[in-house]
Amino acid sequence: SSSKLLIKGGTVVNAHQQEIADVYVEDGVIVAVKPNIKVGDDVTLLDATGKYIMPGGIDPHTHLAMEFMGTETIDDFFSGQAAALAGGTTMHIDFVIPVNGSLVAGFEAYERKAKKSCMDYGFHMAITKWDESVSREMEIMVNEKGINSFKFFMAYKGSLMINDELLLQGLKRCKSLGALAMVHAENGDAVFEGQKRMIELGITGPEGHALSRPAVLEGEATARAIRLARFVNTPLYVVHVMSIDAMEEIAKARKSGQKVIGEPVVSGLVLDDSGLWDPDFITAAKYVMSPPIRESGHDKALQAALSTGVLQLVGTDHCVFNSTQKAFGIDDFRKIPNGVNGIEERMHLVWDTMVESGQISVTDYVRITSTECARIFNLYPRKGAILAGSDADIIIFNPNSSFEIRASSHHSRTDTNVFDGRKGKGKVEVTIAGGRVVWQDDELKVVPGSGKYIEMPPFSYLFNGIDKADAKYLSSLQAPVGRFNSAS
Ligand code: URP
Ligand code: ZN
Ligand code: ZN
Ligand code: ZN
Repeated sequence: SSSKLLIKGGTVVNAHQQEIADVYVEDGVIVAVKPNIKVGDDVTLLDATGKYIMPGGIDPHTHLAMEFMGTETIDDFFSGQAAALAGGTTMHIDFVIPVNGSLVAGFEAYERKAKKSCMDYGFHMAITKWDESVSREMEIMVNEKGINSFKFFMAYKGSLMINDELLLQGLKRCKSLGALAMVHAENGDAVFEGQKRMIELGITGPEGHALSRPAVLEGEATARAIRLARFVNTPLYVVHVMSIDAMEEIAKARKSGQKVIGEPVVSGLVLDDSGLWDPDFITAAKYVMSPPIRESGHDKALQAALSTGVLQLVGTDHCVFNSTQKAFGIDDFRKIPNGVNGIEERMHLVWDTMVESGQISVTDYVRITSTECARIFNLYPRKGAILAGSDADIIIFNPNSSFEIRASSHHSRTDTNVFDGRKGKGKVEVTIAGGRVVWQDDELKVVPGSGKYIEMPPFSYLFNGIDKADAKYLSSLQAPVGRFNSAS
């Protein structure tokens, strides 16, 4: 189709600069970004005077149509993406779960789930066991299927969890393929023990979930994963950083020059656990996610880390279950399906929490919600930028308007919202995905099947300077001789 759009009079914001310019789009691609573009009358005009024109959000961490904890997330690739578009996110990267241990079968299952997509998407792959066939299939994923990242679960003992031996094998394989290793960093053995203790104490409600997996276990696993990645000399991406404990390990590693990426999620940035564990089961169970929402203080520290660059981008871990599904754990918190919403709320909440509060600039906002994700997963500048040649995934954002989050009016299929009642400054007024206006005047115009699968090539910038001279590298890890000799 021949769709032509001109966005006039706004301030175009990229991660590297902002400028007053018009943006001209043809057939899903940005053709020109400059002041005073003149066009014919077959072009749809959008007035952005007084508003920001920014790259659509890219959510690096979602779970749509995922089978998990005996059920399936209630948002699929259509409903979850529609919600995303209503909130200014135009691409997400979802986690493929292998089927019967096969990565290829898992990939094919997710290809089918994603057929109804209404926005662009990419895939990470979860690695939940290790053998020769997994190792072989990882190469197929990277070289033939467009996947450049693999997630290892250090928690969920008995289902997804892998041990250190497997994690090491996985890290080595990622390095050789130029793929990014991601970790869910909680000590799963200790969590298992913590859960048993809670049940023995008779604490079976949702608060038992948080008490059984304290921040110290997130810090421990984060430190361990970072050190193993250092031993292997490969970059590491820590997903859903929820605590000061984990964040400080990332800060320390980055300071020493190690390539570690930390991804906080919106729930961890804006929620704390005060008043969370309501006696009403469903009211409390909706907040159950892993790692859990922490005590007050972690949220502010994660925001500060984001503003200083210790953490680099914001995800959601959107993984929603309705009240009926959450009720599977009414007698035992261990059976509450883990996960919260965020795919629709991320752009607004990050704006309000980080920009409106004065913690970061508008260009930083674009970097942490879009551009850095595109760079890490090797999509830049096709995604994450308003540049001639980039995909036309664009939002028009009004900083003088306001948003309000309501479970009753959100676009996700779930019946609860962990951010219910939150209001703030700023509003995504228009979302353009693949050159189509899909959100305008609070109305969605989404088309199932219009979203494209975006292949992500290996060896992103994180691999620059990482060579394969392991022997030389390992010798550089030895402690300097005489380090402790000065003590008398
Ligand atoms: O509670 C969560 N985070 N559910 C989704 C699965 C995961 O660990 O990311
Ligand atoms: Zn056309
Ligand atoms: Zn996880
Ligand atoms: Zn997740």
